[in-house]
Amino acid sequence: GKVVLAYSGGLDTSIILKYLQEEGYEVVCYIANVGQDDDFKAAEEKAKLLGASAVYVEDLREDFIVNYIFPAIKANAIYESRYLLGTSLARPCIAKKQIEIAEREKAQFVAHGATGKGNDQVRFELTFYALKPDVKVIAPWRDEVFTKRFPGRTALLQYAREKGIPMPAGDKPPYSMDDNIMHISFESGELENPATAPSESMYRKTLPMDKWLDEPQTVRVEFRDGVPIKVTNQATGQEETSPVPLYLMLNEIAKNHGIGRIDIVENRFVGIKSRGVYETPGATILRCAHLDIEGIAMDREVMRLRDMLSPKFAEIVYNGFWFAPEMDFLMAAMHKAQELIDGWVDVLCYKGSCMAVARSSPTALYNENIASMETVEGYNPADAGGFIAINSIRLRAHREIVMKTPQD
Ligand code: ARG
Ligand code: SIN
Repeated sequence: GKVVLAYSGGLDTSIILKYLQEEGYEVVCYIANVGQDDDFKAAEEKAKLLGASAVYVEDLREDFIVNYIFPAIKANAIYESRYLLGTSLARPCIAKKQIEIAEREKAQFVAHGATGKGNDQVRFELTFYALKPDVKVIAPWRDEVFTKRFPGRTALLQYAREKGIPMPAGDKPPYSMDDNIMHISFESGELENPATAPSESMYRKTLPMDKWLDEPQTVRVEFRDGVPIKVTNQATGQEETSPVPLYLMLNEIAKNHGIGRIDIVENRFVGIKSRGVYETPGATILRCAHLDIEGIAMDREVMRLRDMLSPKFAEIVYNGFWFAPEMDFLMAAMHKAQELIDGWVDVLCYKGSCMAVARSSPTALYNENIASMETVEGYNPADAGGFIAINSIRLRAHREIVMKTPQD
């Protein structure tokens, strides 16, 4: 059979590549560029050297930003109140392209290197099955034949040496990382003890704390229908409008000010609690700006309803159901809620945090005249007396009953 393997160029997926060949598969390697700090040329060479029958290197950055990150920003998606879903959003994007390649290559099998204890296996495979119901999935880390053969690191390294797999230079980092343009995650290894703080030198997408800039900096984010369409560095006047440069600029500003770090214990879909540290620089600024533009432009009751749906949206993303009917339904509602969310927000960045300080919207529901203490136009304060009287009926009835009823 023919299999499309999601290949990173790292040791583990290189071993899987060799192993699948040994099992008789023709292996097509697929390298997804979602903006991680990798050498794609080197990974491609390595896959060829190790006998891949074809190698695809796909630049998914714009697709990832436009079709996954921006919708999540529109929905104010945040998992368990803190995690902005950088890995969770990348998985369906990566897996979708993998299925496209499988179709093009007429491959019946797809394979990935996610472990059997995590969320990623679920996200990859739910996407595979949703988009190609007849696909056959190979997940070596869950395969008993594979895991018996490679019970530990020593066996893997031994096999790599035998098969001529080039060894990664330098020491293995003391944690597992997942990097893309939106975030980097750190888990396991040294981080497994939640009582231990990570060392400052671990962080990659934000400067070390003692290098955070001493001057505050303002960045202007402009939205159309809840989507960021322009970002301006107010210090330099530099502006970007296309998704990748716009996103990279936000990341750079956030990086210099240490914005977007979190350190949490979260609930994996598979029932395990897991400690993770994340850096999500640009999206942290975007979330701040987006919440603020909604403050001025979004109807109150739409906001209330949407706010009930945001945690559900986040959970669906986290659990891997990006391509699912419930997601289509929620997404339609989220897009609808953003139709009049236009305008700009100035976000002040300084020493690890960001804060909206000015905003303006052509679709503002805010009316300076109504809000002001000076004038009465379209709002008669006398009406408020009746409004309060009617609303007090229930409260008074309740109090009277409480006073009449003996308490024990
Ligand atoms: N815990 C995060 C999530 O489930 C990050 C997972 C990181 N994945 C990885 N292969 N290191 O979204
Ligand atoms: C993995 O298990 O492959 C990484 C962690 C996760 O998917 O949650």
